[in-house]
Amino acid sequence: MAFATPPLSCLCWLTAVTLTLLALHVRPVNVQAVRKLSLYTGVIPGFSLGEMLLGNPNVTLRVYDILLGCRADKAPFTVLKLNTLIPLDDYTNVTKYLSGLTNDLSAVQSVDLSPYQVLTPALQSALNDLQSAGLSSINFTQITSVLNQPVTSFDVSTYISTMASLISYCVNPTQARWSAHKTTMETIRDSKVPAVDTAITTLKASLATLESHIAGVDNKTDMVLTLAAEADNQIQNNMTAVLSDGASAFESKLTGYVSQYATEATYLAYNEIGNCLPLWNLYRSFVVMLCNYGVDSLNGFWFSLGWGLFFFIPVVIVGITVAGYYSTMDSIRNWPEPEEEHDDEDFDDFQAKLDMLK
Ligand SMILES: *[C@@H]1O[C@H](CO)[C@@H](O)[C@H](O)[C@H]1NC(C)=O
Ligand SMILES: *[C@@H]1O[C@H](CO)[C@@H](O)[C@H](O)[C@H]1NC(C)=O
Ligand SMILES: *[C@@H]1O[C@H](CO)[C@@H](O)[C@H](O)[C@H]1NC(C)=O
Ligand SMILES: *[C@@H]1O[C@H](CO)[C@@H](O)[C@H](O)[C@H]1NC(C)=O
Ligand SMILES: *[C@@H]1O[C@H](CO)[C@@H](O)[C@H](O)[C@H]1NC(C)=O
Repeated sequence: MAFATPPLSCLCWLTAVTLTLLALHVRPVNVQAVRKLSLYTGVIPGFSLGEMLLGNPNVTLRVYDILLGCRADKAPFTVLKLNTLIPLDDYTNVTKYLSGLTNDLSAVQSVDLSPYQVLTPALQSALNDLQSAGLSSINFTQITSVLNQPVTSFDVSTYISTMASLISYCVNPTQARWSAHKTTMETIRDSKVPAVDTAITTLKASLATLESHIAGVDNKTDMVLTLAAEADNQIQNNMTAVLSDGASAFESKLTGYVSQYATEATYLAYNEIGNCLPLWNLYRSFVVMLCNYGVDSLNGFWFSLGWGLFFFIPVVIVGITVAGYYSTMDSIRNWPEPEEEHDDEDFDDFQAKLDMLK
């Protein structure tokens, strides 16, 4: 035995006891079965520890292996091959339980994004109209130069004073008409022309604002058109891939946590929980107690008996050889007779002394 070497005598003793018990057992022994018993494999036909403990005859479970496992301080789950009874690896296979999640995430990946469009036909045509409206072709320099020209191309005041000198040469009703014209001209000079000047000033300011706003409007429209087309391209052609990547990453992260936990739990069951070194120690103590303290003390007895039996042989021979001499000793002549022994001598002596005392 590799793991334990109980004294040979202990084994012999145990074998002797077992054989005695077997002999006392009156039930007929299946000789065929005993013959088939292989001492090397320790397998008894028709007997399966696997079937007894786990209900599965296909599992090779041997007491020797169990003791070996316990000596190595393994967990009972490993030593007793409990995984055939409780398929822990199968139970902790996360993939089986997360098929629903995988399907849901696949649904996310196959979402239809075709209705989502940034650059709708309406928006595109509006932007194209804006570009073709010719805003960029407005010549603000020309408009401003026109607006900078004076409102009147002649001197109104000179014209009015000429009219006033003419009025004095005329008679009514012509004089009255010239007077009315002169009043009209004065009104134009004093209120209409300043009003137009003010309006032109305001217009120029507005034009400047408009010009600053219009500047680059074509470029901006172009940019909007390009970016919107690019966004649409991404949504239609790349969004699904991005969603898919995201969903896969999410799924692997989620299953990663769960399967890490399952792996750890399985590892604990296989290696850490309830390690059975104490069982080995118990067995070892049992063997030591039985063989070293129990049977070894009996070894003296067997030793004495053996040597006794051994020395009986010469003693018997010597005894038989000298038996003739002993039997003829009594009949040899002149051999002194043993004296008669008086068992009651002491008593008689005692009686005599007692009589003397009286
Ligand atoms: C044991 O193995 C045999 C043959 O391979 C098979 O028919 C039988 O179902 C197995 N028994 C168990 C309990 O797995
Ligand atoms: C987990 O189960 C799936 C499907 O049921 C299977 O394809 C996979 O091989 C199993 N994984 C392990 C480690 O047993
Ligand atoms: C705008 O008008 C000015 C003056 O008439 C002219 O010199 C200039 O070339 C014009 N600019 C454009 C872009 O047509
Ligand atoms: C318009 O865009 C073109 C090229 O994109 C650039 O060269 C030009 O300077 C831009 N014009 C303005 C006014 O921003
Ligand atoms: C899709 O998007 C990703 C990330 O935004 C980018 O790295 C990749 O180049 C894009 N693929 C295509 C074909 O546009």
